[in-house]
Parts: sequence; C-alpha cells; structure tokens
Amino acid sequence: MKKIYTGKTKDVYELENGNYMLQFKDDMTGENGVFDPGANTVGAHIEGIGRENLRVSVKFFEMLNAAGIKTHYVSADIDNATMEVLPAKPFGKGLEVICRYRAVGSFIRRYGAYIEDGAKLPAYVEMTIKDDDRGDPLITKEGLEVLGIMTGEQFDAIVKATKEITAIVAAEVEKAGAEFYDIKFEFGFNGQEVILIDEIASGNMRAYKDGKTLEPMDLTALLLK
Ligand SMILES: Nc1ncnc2c1ncn2[C@@H]1O[C@H](COP(=O)(O)OP(=O)(O)O)[C@@H](O)[C@H]1O
Ligand SMILES: [Mg+2]
Repeated sequence: MKKIYTGKTKDVYELENGNYMLQFKDDMTGENGVFDPGANTVGAHIEGIGRENLRVSVKFFEMLNAAGIKTHYVSADIDNATMEVLPAKPFGKGLEVICRYRAVGSFIRRYGAYIEDGAKLPAYVEMTIKDDDRGDPLITKEGLEVLGIMTGEQFDAIVKATKEITAIVAAEVEKAGAEFYDIKFEFGFNGQEVILIDEIASGNMRAYKDGKTLEPMDLTALLLK
C-alpha cells in the first residue's frame, strides 16, 4: 500500500487492486480551534472525529448510490477509519463545488452589501479551484472553459448533480432537526465518467439549530441518531 497524498483531514493510499483508500484523520479544517468548512488550515484536533466523519460519509454515499447517483464509494472499515474508493482524476488541480441554501461564510464576505446574513438562496451553486496560496478563488463557467478545466456541458451536468445531491443531504439534516445552510463537494473523473468523490461529513457543511451554527460533532451526533 503506497501513500500518495497527505491531506488536511485525510491521507490517500493506493491499494493493490488499483483502488484508493482514504484514511480519515482526527483533524478538522478551521482556524485557532474554531471550525470553518471553508478554511484551508487544520483548526482543531478532535479525538475520534475521523471515524465519525467516515460514518456520516458512508450513510450519505449509500443513500446516493440507492438514488442512482454515481459516487466513488466502494466500502468502509469504520474501526480503522478507512474508506475504499474508486480512483478519480480531479478537474485541474482540484475543484470544490459549493451549494448554498442560505447566505453565510464566504458568500457574505463577498456579497454582504447586497444580502443579509442567513438569507435564503435557491440552491445556489458556485465553484472554487483548490489553490491554498491563492485562497481557493471562485471560478465561473467561462473561466473553467477558458482554462481548459472543464467543458460547458460538464459544468452544467455538475451543477445539476450538485443540486440533486444537496437536496438529499439537506432533507436528512432537516429530518435530524437542524437547518441546512451550505455544503461543499468534490467531483472527479473515473475513466470518462464524472463521479462524486471525497467525503460528505459534518465538516463539509453548515447547519444551524436554534439560530446558532452547529459544531461538527453535534451535527454528526444528530445525523447518526
Ligand atoms: N476517489 C478519489 N480519487 C482521487 N482523489 C480523491 C478521491 N477522493 C478524494 N480524493 C482527494 O483526496 C484528498 C483527501 O484529503 P483531504 O484531507 O480532504 O485533502 P485536502 O487537504 O486537499 O482537502 C483530497 O485532495 C481529495 O481531492
Ligand atoms: Mg478536503
């Protein structure tokens, strides 16, 4: 087994059978101990959170597979906090797809002059390119085409899939008694096919309860109840 990538919250290994293995770590993105799904630094180390993130991811990947949505998920070993996945090639050097039901985080930092914090949004999808040095810049459909990162058709298909996936996750969050605000996904190529990759855990989304943002551990507990 060869380690091929050391990430902020997961390490990636190549398995003998050609698949990849994601090792979930007990780290969350954020700054100075404060969780932030949009952050590019590890902000908190929480014992056991890797296994919990994997549990939540497995729950959602199984729901998506049942709904006929293609994902990289193959199997999981909860005790060891590992997930076997289909290997995927990223768009460019990596792309993040965000779906927003409510205006918070970087959306408010950018557009706060035009919208109130927490205002409803119509499943608004935007993409950022993974580039820590440049603060993960936002990119338009035309930008992605000009830079040769994806075609317009691929962009439209990812926006559509993102809205479908988010609807499934949001419904589950609401069922657990919280209000869904936003979420971040990654997609990649498995052969010619574009599939959902990475993880779907509390650290990738924001949810509120009683007007306050839920800490990832608390959201996880609600989702696994
Ligand atoms: N199926 C997959 N194939 C290839 N790479 C993947 C797959 N699923 C996730 N990844 C990548 O593995 C890495 C996971 O580690 P993570 O800690 O989240 O990294 P990062 O610090 O880049 O966010 C990410 O770079 C993600 O793009
Ligand atoms: Mg990540």
